Amino acid sequence: MAATDLERISNAEPEPRSLSLGGHVGFDSLPDQLVSKSVSQGFSFNILCVGETGIGKSTLMNTLFNTTFETEEASHHEECVRLRPQTYDLQESNVHLKLTIVDAVGFGDQINKDDSYRPIVDYIDAQFENYLQEELKIRRSLFDYHDTRIHVCLYFITPTGHSLKSLDLVTMKKLDSKVNIIPIIAKADTISKSELHKFKIKIMGELVSNGVQIYQFPTDDEAVAEINTVMNAHLPFAVVGSTEEVKVGNKLVRARQYPWGVVQVENENHCDFVKLREMLIRVNMEDLREQTHSRHYELYRRCKLEEMGFQDSDGDSQPFSLQETYEAKRKEFLSELQRKEEEMRQMFVNKVKETELELKEKERELHEKFEHLKRIHQEEKRKVEEKRRELEEETNAFNCRKAAMEALQSQALHATSQQPLRKDKDKKN
Ligand code: GTP
Ligand code: MG
Repeated sequence: MAATDLERISNAEPEPRSLSLGGHVGFDSLPDQLVSKSVSQGFSFNILCVGETGIGKSTLMNTLFNTTFETEEASHHEECVRLRPQTYDLQESNVHLKLTIVDAVGFGDQINKDDSYRPIVDYIDAQFENYLQEELKIRRSLFDYHDTRIHVCLYFITPTGHSLKSLDLVTMKKLDSKVNIIPIIAKADTISKSELHKFKIKIMGELVSNGVQIYQFPTDDEAVAEINTVMNAHLPFAVVGSTEEVKVGNKLVRARQYPWGVVQVENENHCDFVKLREMLIRVNMEDLREQTHSRHYELYRRCKLEEMGFQDSDGDSQPFSLQETYEAKRKEFLSELQRKEEEMRQMFVNKVKETELELKEKERELHEKFEHLKRIHQEEKRKVEEKRRELEEETNAFNCRKAAMEALQSQALHATSQQPLRKDKDKKN
């Protein structure tokens, strides 16, 4: 026998022995204890409604839970899709249900619908993140934590009778790994029976060919396997919503009344409302909650922890150690920090050098400019000096000429004043 086989045998736990009891002990009450504990704790269920504005989301919610949640209509002019959660406390018999209905307000109203799915995905992730943060806390209080993770997404399909819109396909594809999607054809009273049949087949074909995973009612539990198998074949449910009561025969039933007849919400020949209620609330509510935790949340948690550097075993298949992972991550973080610091310091030094060079260049340019101006100034000064000298010379010459002229003038004056005197003398002689 090989050494590894021997090791495996010695490490294997011994099979527990089966014993029969001599009488009633009482641990058969465990399921009852569980039920009573769950009932006293209450339940939470969170539904996300995605569908165009006015498709009948609020009406269907009111019809499903037989109450009036809200009457406020959404605006058609939202700039982007906005998620609006509203929580209600409901009670039926002694069971308390904290129900949160999240409306994707403004879905399909934007001209550019490329990013319509993003706020929805972000909202679902944010709820997973909140739960993960609570789980990772040292002092956790998951017992009374208000779990807001979305358990089901009711995707309202417009009853066009043609095919799914690309917005529907893209959105469902982005959501299918994060939430249980139940597609429903809304306002099914606006489409004829034969068209509806074809439409359902077309939708399912498109979902399959585009690889969109919708929620399948579980068939592994014997108690519900049969009904769930039948119901899986009816997807997507074609529903009609109404809170109005109309008299049919001698009974008041919820229905939509038209001039040509009455569409009864709870009549299985008229629509699939009863099937939806049965599957969503009465048979599979707990499975939806469980799938959310064990499949969708688990996937989110795994990706998130792997992103953070945690892994179940290292390369040599050593068991995962939180302490070692933490240390490794811390070292990695510190060296990254150091690298960043060094990078920044180098960047700073380079920047200083660059600025210094720039300043020196500027100084040199200024100096050259100054020298140039100085030369111009000296040249100007020399020219002015020359001009002044010339002017001075001209002034001197002028003054000389002026003095000579004045002398000549006085001589001439003197001569003219002497002439009459001489004439008089000549006459007298
Ligand atoms: P917003 O919240 O404004 O986006 O609308 P909504 O999707 O909640 O639709 P809402 O339930 O307010 O219904 C819009 C209109 O559609 C109302 O006039 C409803 O009476 C009507 N309506 C709702 N359900 C159905 C249905 O099953 N069939 C038909 N024909 N009309 C319906
Ligand atoms: Mg509404």
